Amino acid sequence: MGLFNLPKNSVVQPGKTFPAPEDAQRVKIVRVYRWDPEVGGNPRLDTYPIDLDQCGPMVLDALIKIKNEIDSTLAFRRSCREGVCGSCAMNIDGGNALACTKPLSDCGEVVTIHPLPHQPVVKDLVPDLTHFYAQYASIKPWIETQTPPPADRERLQSTAERAELDGLQECILCACCSTSCPSYWWNGDRFLGPAALLQAYRWIADSRDEATGERLDALEDPFKLFRCHTIMNCTQACPKGLNPAQAIGQIKKLLIERRE
Ligand code: SF4
Ligand code: SF4
Ligand code: FES
Repeated sequence: MGLFNLPKNSVVQPGKTFPAPEDAQRVKIVRVYRWDPEVGGNPRLDTYPIDLDQCGPMVLDALIKIKNEIDSTLAFRRSCREGVCGSCAMNIDGGNALACTKPLSDCGEVVTIHPLPHQPVVKDLVPDLTHFYAQYASIKPWIETQTPPPADRERLQSTAERAELDGLQECILCACCSTSCPSYWWNGDRFLGPAALLQAYRWIADSRDEATGERLDALEDPFKLFRCHTIMNCTQACPKGLNPAQAIGQIKKLLIERRE
C-alpha cells in the first residue's frame, strides 16, 4: 500500500495562488492538494481564495465553486451531496470527513484539503479504492444460506433481530475509517481494516445468515482481523457516527468464545 504512483520521496510543494475575489467581504482560503499523473512530478498545494457570500455552506460547495468558476482542472468525487453515497470522502484540515456534510464554518481560516491518506492517488483528491473494495468483496457482503427459503414468504426477522443490524447497516463505505487507521496504513495489504470488518460483522450479526462459522473461520487470521490494536481512530473518523472498533471487538469476542 502507499502512494505507489507518486515519485519516490515526493514532497508536497507550494503551488499556484489564484487571485482574491473582487469586492468580497468574507473570504476563506482553500488550499487543495493537486497531482496529475499525466504531468507527473511532485504534488503541490494550490490556493484558492473563496468569497463566502457567493458560496454554499459546505466544503463540497467550495470545491464545486472552484471547479466551475476558477479552475476546471481540479478533480474530486461527489454524487449525492447529502452524506449518503460516500464518494466525497477526503482529508479536511487533517481529519477524514465527507466534504458535503463538513461545514466551511467548522474549518480553520485556511482550509487544507488532501485526498484520503495512504491510498494511491488517481488525480488530485481522487483516491484509488480498488483494493478497499476488493477487501469489502472478500467478506462476502450478502446473505449465505443452506436451508431453502420458506415457500410462501421471505426470510423474516423479528424486530429485535433487525435491531441487531442498527449501527452496522448504515455504513456508506466511504473509507474514512480505514484510511485513518494506522494499522491499515502499514498493513493494509493484509489487514482488512475497520470498514470491511464492520461489514463482516454486519453479516455475522444477521439472523438470516447461515454461514457464521465460515465467516469466523475466514477472519481467524493474525493479519485480517488481529492487526486491529484498538487505537479507535476509526470510530472517531466515521462521519455516520458508527463504531467500527466495537464491531471488531464483537468479532474478536465471538472468536474467543468459540475457542472455549
Ligand atoms: S480500533 Fe482497530 S481498526 Fe480502528 S483505528 Fe484502531 S487499529 Fe484501526
Ligand atoms: S464505518 Fe463509517 S467511516 Fe467506515 S466506511 Fe462505514 S460509514 Fe465510512
Ligand atoms: S457527495 Fe455523497 S456523501 Fe458526499
